[in-house]
Parts: sequence; C-alpha cells; structure tokens
Amino acid sequence: MSLTIKDIRQPIAAELDVFEKKFRASMQTKVALLDKIMYYIVQRKGKQMRPMFVFFAAKLMGGITEATHRGAALVELLHTATLIHDDVVDDAYERRGFFSVNALWKNKIAVLVGDYLFSRGMLLSVENGDFELLRIVSRAVKEMSEGELLQIERSRRLNLDEEVYYEIIRQKTASLIASSCSIGCASVTDDKETQKLVWDIGEKIGIAFQIRDDLFDFGADTKIGKPTGIDIKEKKLTLPLIYAIHHASKKDRKYLINTIKKHHNNKKKVKEVIDYVWESGGIEYATEAMQKYRAEAMELLKKFPENEGRKGLEELLWFTTERKK
Ligand code: IPE
Ligand code: IPE
Ligand code: MG
Ligand code: MG
Repeated sequence: MSLTIKDIRQPIAAELDVFEKKFRASMQTKVALLDKIMYYIVQRKGKQMRPMFVFFAAKLMGGITEATHRGAALVELLHTATLIHDDVVDDAYERRGFFSVNALWKNKIAVLVGDYLFSRGMLLSVENGDFELLRIVSRAVKEMSEGELLQIERSRRLNLDEEVYYEIIRQKTASLIASSCSIGCASVTDDKETQKLVWDIGEKIGIAFQIRDDLFDFGADTKIGKPTGIDIKEKKLTLPLIYAIHHASKKDRKYLINTIKKHHNNKKKVKEVIDYVWESGGIEYATEAMQKYRAEAMELLKKFPENEGRKGLEELLWFTTERKK
C-alpha cells in the first residue's frame, strides 16, 4: 500500500472543502498585521489530519453534522496555535517546509498569534453552544501544556525513562488526536462508552504519530519540512535516544549525556549522537514500538462495523506510521 493523504481524503473531499472555508472564515480580522500572518498560515497549510480524524470518526458512527464541521475547525485552529507556540518554545525556524511564524515575525508576535487562534477556536464553540466539544478539547489543551512543561522539566535534568516519555507524548500529542476522534464521535452520538472507545483508538494513533515524529528528528527521512536534530539541541530525550542511553556501556552513557548536556548547540556533536543512536539499534526499537501501537489501534477499530469511517481511520493510522512528512 502506498496511500497518499490525498487518496485518504477522497471520501470526505467535499466536507474538507467546506471545512477549509470555515477555517479561513474563523481567522478573519481587521488588524492588518494579523491578517497578513493569517494569510501566510492558510497558504502554508499542513496535512489537516486532525479534521480528517474528526470527519471519519463521525462517519464511523453514522454521519457528518454541522457540529462535526465546527469540531473540525476547532481542532485545526488549536493545533495551528500549538504549532506556532511550539516553534517558539523549540526555537525552530522551519515549519511545513518554510519559515515558521517566529522566524519571520519574532517570538513576541508568534505568541500573540497563537493566543489569537486559541481564542477564535474557543469562540467558535461557545457561540454555537458546542459545550461538549469544548469540554473534550479543553481537556486536551490542558494536557498539551502539561506535556510540554513536563518535557521541559525533564530535559533540564536529563533524566527520562520510557514511562515518562510515553506520558509526555500522550499528553502533548496523543490527547489532541484522541479528542479529534472523540469530538467526531460526540458530534453524532451521546453514548459515553463509544466516545471513550474512540478516544482510546485516537490516543494509540497519537502515540504512534509522535514516535514517528521523533524518528524524523534523527533524519529517518529527509525533506520533512521541519529541521532535524532539534530535539537533541533542545535536550529532549526521545525514544530512540532513551533506548541508546539505557543500552550503552557506562563510558558511552557518560559520553552521550555529556555531549547532550554541554554540546547540544554544536551541530557536529549532535550529529555524532544521532549516528550513535542509529548504530545502537534505537531507531529500530522505536519503529517497533510505534508498530505495536498501530496494531493495538487496529485491533480496537475492529470493534466497529466496516464502513467508510472505519476505513478512513485505518488508512490514517497506516499513513501516520508510514508517512514521510
Ligand atoms: C506536527 O503535527 C506536530 C506534532 C504533533 C508532532 P502534524 O505533522 O500533523 O503537522 P501539520 O499540521 O501537518 O503541519
Ligand atoms: C509536538 O512536539 C508538540 C506539539 C504538538 C505542541 P514536537 O516539538 O516534537 O513537534 P514538531 O516536531 O516541532 O512538529
Ligand atoms: Mg517542536
Ligand atoms: Mg518533533
């Protein structure tokens, strides 16, 4: 199978077109500077996977409603906001194959633009009385902040085991993907048990998604539209590196920790760590862990009838782990 995101979008192409208009409309502003940045953001749009999760999860349970549409716009607004803030936090100057907002307009403006997008998302829900959707998403946003802060706290001390790593990625990434699925589901059914099951599926997909993203940082694939080696520069210990550290000799471990601690701004030294991780089998290990989550999500999806929604989610899951960007 070599599905592209475009293939996967096909069954919901019409819905996504409507989504895009709504997304754009919910960014409108009279402030010229902000308007210019909004235009830039819309031009450089991402894969829009989260809205796709919303739509397919709604289809899984029956159909797409107006609330589904608002849910899709909501998650993409929040996702975009967190990426803008994330690039400030990570000092990253590239996003979606081009300059990040902070690279072009500096941190001050990027923080405010992120806040603006957040509030537009909140307003979209409040003005339409989508309180259940808002509740689901607010929980995810809270977790995202906690996850990012937990990551910063741990990278300062450079102590991280797998358990904490999974907690971080569950919070900072999987929670929004889980809520995208859950929102889609909640926009068509009130059944809590089903919502929870769909949430769990989204969470597993989200964990696999972030492991894939962390693999990108080791240059597992080139041309992803984001810089590589950023995680080590930011002293973020991700699964491949955690594995390498835990399986290294005492001497090597000392060397790795010391390099990350003292030379994380030195590109050549960072590259040495990356090479070490490749040789240690850390990349393979993380790839297998990712596949384990994929298999678990796949298993849970089997509890649903074989329909277009389920097929879409299965394809998105597949894409998540095989994607090149
Ligand atoms: C990137 O998410 C942020 C992470 C959670 C790793 P995506 O890869 O979905 O970003 P875009 O929206 O397509 O750029
Ligand atoms: C994703 O973490 C975190 C958020 C979704 C905020 P990363 O920092 O690894 O994301 P990328 O790699 O910059 O997209
Ligand atoms: Mg980042
Ligand atoms: Mg990353």
